[in-house]
Amino acid sequence: MIRLRKVVFPVAGLGTRFLPATKVVPKEMLPVIDRPLIQYAVDEAVDAGADTLVFVTNRYKHSIADYFDSAYELEETLERAGKHELLAAVQGLLPPHVRCVYVTQEQALGLGHAVLCTKPVVGDEPFGVILPDDLIVNDGPGALRQMAECAPDAETGVLAVEEVPRADTGKYGIVDVEKGSERIRHIVEKPKPEDAPSNLGVVGRYVLPARIFDLLEHTTPGAGGEIQLTDAIAALLRDTPVLAHRFRGRRFDCGSKAGMVRATLHFALDDPDLAGIVREFVADHDVV
Ligand code: G1P
Repeated sequence: MIRLRKVVFPVAGLGTRFLPATKVVPKEMLPVIDRPLIQYAVDEAVDAGADTLVFVTNRYKHSIADYFDSAYELEETLERAGKHELLAAVQGLLPPHVRCVYVTQEQALGLGHAVLCTKPVVGDEPFGVILPDDLIVNDGPGALRQMAECAPDAETGVLAVEEVPRADTGKYGIVDVEKGSERIRHIVEKPKPEDAPSNLGVVGRYVLPARIFDLLEHTTPGAGGEIQLTDAIAALLRDTPVLAHRFRGRRFDCGSKAGMVRATLHFALDDPDLAGIVREFVADHDVV
């Protein structure tokens, strides 16, 4: 098990799949019921032990920093109105020992480049990466904590993986794992189904050693003309163990509309005030 103090959130993407909403609202601020996607991601990082949250943003994403900032007027108003539950909800977004750092990615050069932008903040220690699009829910320890728990030392990488439909390999980093162990032999970014070494896809959780930064500095544009984190991990694999972790939990791909609908229904059915409404709606719909 390693201590994971810093977690990186690459949130500088354009969110084109949710246009026009994402013209002004960052996709990470889209809510699943009443909490934005970024809140679920941050909760998972805090659960994994993080005390420093590093957001890679751009000039269109100021609302993420505003969201985690205190809102004096709102808090005052809720306080005066005696709305203590709401006040606690607004004030309790982060535990007091956790701080946020914002790093700008000036050009959208890819996920690998976004992670590289955090080098001056992360420094020389292992760190986590969470892609907030992939919302993972479970009852026990969060996915990132599970990964920190299975990392034997600060040099070993751990990637969250799950089986994906063969037809979808072109949407993921795909790994090939050594038989009888969890050690990854190869990783390739978004291969066509006929070229994919397996159907084990990397989902948006990584535990990485600091050495990945040196490798990212030498990573040239790959799939889609972008500097890919997957390519730097492929270089890391040559001399460093990187493990595939089949996490316990359910993942919703909230980068897609279908995933957003599923996640919303999941949390609605979990909420005693909303579950009946969903069931009633579906039943009425069946009748029509
Ligand atoms: C990124 C990574 C890919 C990974 C995926 C998980 O792709 O490049 O390797 O499998 O996240 O969600 P993106 O979805 O940003 O295109």
